[in-house]
Amino acid sequence: MGRIIAIANQKGGVGKTTTSVNLAACLAEKGKKVLAIDMDPQGNMTSGLGVDKSNIDLTIYDAMLGECNIGECMIVKPLENKKLNLSLLPSNRELAGAEVDFITQERPQYILKDLLESIKDKYDFTIIDCPPALGILTVNSMTAANTVIVPIQCEFYALDGLSQLIYTIDLIKQKLNKQLEIEGVVFTMYDARTNLSLEVVENVKNNLDQYIYKSIIPRNVRLAEAPSFGLPINLYDSKSAGAQGYRDLAAEVINNKLYANM
Ligand SMILES: Nc1ncnc2c1ncn2[C@@H]1O[C@H](COP(=O)(O)OP(=O)(O)OP(=O)(O)O)[C@@H](O)[C@H]1O
Ligand SMILES: [Mg+2]
Repeated sequence: MGRIIAIANQKGGVGKTTTSVNLAACLAEKGKKVLAIDMDPQGNMTSGLGVDKSNIDLTIYDAMLGECNIGECMIVKPLENKKLNLSLLPSNRELAGAEVDFITQERPQYILKDLLESIKDKYDFTIIDCPPALGILTVNSMTAANTVIVPIQCEFYALDGLSQLIYTIDLIKQKLNKQLEIEGVVFTMYDARTNLSLEVVENVKNNLDQYIYKSIIPRNVRLAEAPSFGLPINLYDSKSAGAQGYRDLAAEVINNKLYANM
């Protein structure tokens, strides 16, 4: 059975896309079959996986509107390294129309879930990059998902907004997707040179009743550079600290005990 993971936090710039792209690529590197879904109109996951977002005919938006089927908008193995078994459902700014367009549909929260029904078991992992908002795109992502991973940036306001996020996830669990769980939080942009990063990690550990991944993603300039080359970190700089961080996370995600019975 395939696992569908939404990478979500309504706060902007906390490392959702960096985590989505690199977790997906590191899972594929470990021999898993991976589907990456870009649910953000910014299209950063799409370009981060080497696809020119301004130059795609069909996106996940067209599939969600019923204007194409899911296979038609899928980009099979967008990366030049075809050894990685990773495919992409891309997006671009057209997806911003979703808030208005989906509302007229019969089951607006279930559009992505229904679309994935026929293909989800072809993949070991489906990784969904959510936008920085708790609107219809994130609701669709969490309704389709088995679990959520929450990236938390190691900065002073790390815990701000988390209670709202957890409330939303609970609400979706109650009303739309009974099996939804938070599988864990992951710290991003950890700077070992500052006390602040360490304090943030300790503070979140003491105040947040959630599973915390042991892998901590360091602040690493190679992670920031890689998207401009359209490459995930394991292909851009395989030996970097960032690549090691996401490889460790991928190994932990594979072994998450929530899935012992799956
Ligand atoms: N570990 C890291 N080290 C260095 N830079 C990073 C790291 N993680 C993310 N960044 C950079 O920080 C910025 C924000 O990261 P990212 O785009 O992944 O966040 P996001 O949560 O997806 O943002 P948005 O909310 O806009 O979708 C990007 O420029 C990214 O390259
Ligand atoms: Mg993003």
